[in-house]
Amino acid sequence: MKKRPILSICSIASLIVMTSTASAEDLENGRRVFRLCVACHTVDSDRNGFGPHLKGVFGRPAGSLPDYRYSEAMKTAGAGGLVWDEATLSEFLSSPKKKVPGTKMSFGGLWTTSEITDLIAYLRAFP
Ligand code: HEC
Repeated sequence: MKKRPILSICSIASLIVMTSTASAEDLENGRRVFRLCVACHTVDSDRNGFGPHLKGVFGRPAGSLPDYRYSEAMKTAGAGGLVWDEATLSEFLSSPKKKVPGTKMSFGGLWTTSEITDLIAYLRAFP
């Protein structure tokens, strides 16, 4: 009981820190969320599966791997300047077909902000 105020100050502080650096807990949650992607994607190697590999995806222009057959929609989006960062990944992962109409990624989309931010933190851990 006595510890409560200290704990809540700590969690406010860690919330502030979380916006720039992800905690181990976020990464662990991101790894769990990534299970939704593993049927089609790897992140720890540059092998493409049904989907393009996601190693180094953070900061990569959309549709830019030379050895993967993207949809025209994804290639056009990349040529038009779409680069995968915090903002664009959040939009794409919450609704792939809305962000890139015509994409061949058939995935309904993630629902909660923490799923998305933790997953992005996890992806960033594989440069
Ligand atoms: C059913 C298979 C499937 C699932 C599940 C899936 N994807 Fe994809 N993903 C694809 C395909 C196929 C593409 C290529 C899309 C295109 O060319 O239009 C793609 C493309 C992408 C891209 C763009 C990569 C690039 O090089 O431009 C990202 C980022 C991505 N997926 C992330 C994810 C994440 C994160 C998840 C899990 C939340 C996920 N995907 C789930 C099949 C899938």
